[in-house]
Amino acid sequence: MASSTGITKRTVVVRTRAALRDALAAAPRPLGVVPTMGWLHAGHRSLMQRSRAADATTVVTIFVNPRQFGDPRDLEQYPRNEARDVAICEEEGVDLVFAPSVEEVYPLGFDTSIRVGAIAEPLEGTARPGHFDGVATVVAVLFNLVGAEHAYFGQKDAQQVLVVRQMARDLAIRTEVIACPTVREGDGLALSSRNVHLAPEERAAAPVLHRALTAARDAWAAGERSGDALRSRMREVLAGEPLANPDYVSVADLATLRELDRIDGPALLSLAVRLGSTRLIDNEPLP
Ligand code: PAF
Repeated sequence: MASSTGITKRTVVVRTRAALRDALAAAPRPLGVVPTMGWLHAGHRSLMQRSRAADATTVVTIFVNPRQFGDPRDLEQYPRNEARDVAICEEEGVDLVFAPSVEEVYPLGFDTSIRVGAIAEPLEGTARPGHFDGVATVVAVLFNLVGAEHAYFGQKDAQQVLVVRQMARDLAIRTEVIACPTVREGDGLALSSRNVHLAPEERAAAPVLHRALTAARDAWAAGERSGDALRSRMREVLAGEPLANPDYVSVADLATLRELDRIDGPALLSLAVRLGSTRLIDNEPLP
């Protein structure tokens, strides 16, 4: 962070709950937190920038949360590079990085799991059983440890935003959950830490997710209000890409994520698609 003397302030990295508490004791408020699993990219940078614009102190958490991975291979293969992540935080003027071990987040005897209700059931909740229990549990721990006024999440994980918001509201956690726009590559591919796993031909095929969403949004803008018609439009575009293996396409109510027959209010177009062994998700809110 550039101070009034022009000297760049280094990002402090802490790894324990106690060190985090000490580092935050005299931190200027308001405080913003950006929870991440590392392998930071421009999408994460945009969240840090939002916090830096609104908060006097910005904290980034870096923790690959084992409880939100169903498949142990997925957890093992999750990309990690802490030195690079900390350098990015430093460039963005982040004040503090909390990079705890698994034992620090889940100490011996930890025996609580948070299950959010209906909003966590469809879409990713169905495709990845237990995933949102892991997300809600770790985010509750992180929110309580950091005690921020604001937390910043990417809209790319639209259901995650709704699940975390519900959890924070129900558990009377006073951190406000702020959703920030999806950041995309020039060809429309939403930035994700998982993009690194795409083989060159899969990377070339990946913008089909955004093309499918755009085609459905264009149909909606032209007056189409049938949920089935918009789902078909997305499937049709995905079918044009031989490497794309759709998991689901959805046209749902933006607040409840219930599938819609007709679109009469705010809605969410979303999809999950496998390209080889990599599973990508993306979405487009309407209007
Ligand atoms: O979106 C993520 O990176 C993770 O799900 C989160 C919110 C950091 C919880 O582990």
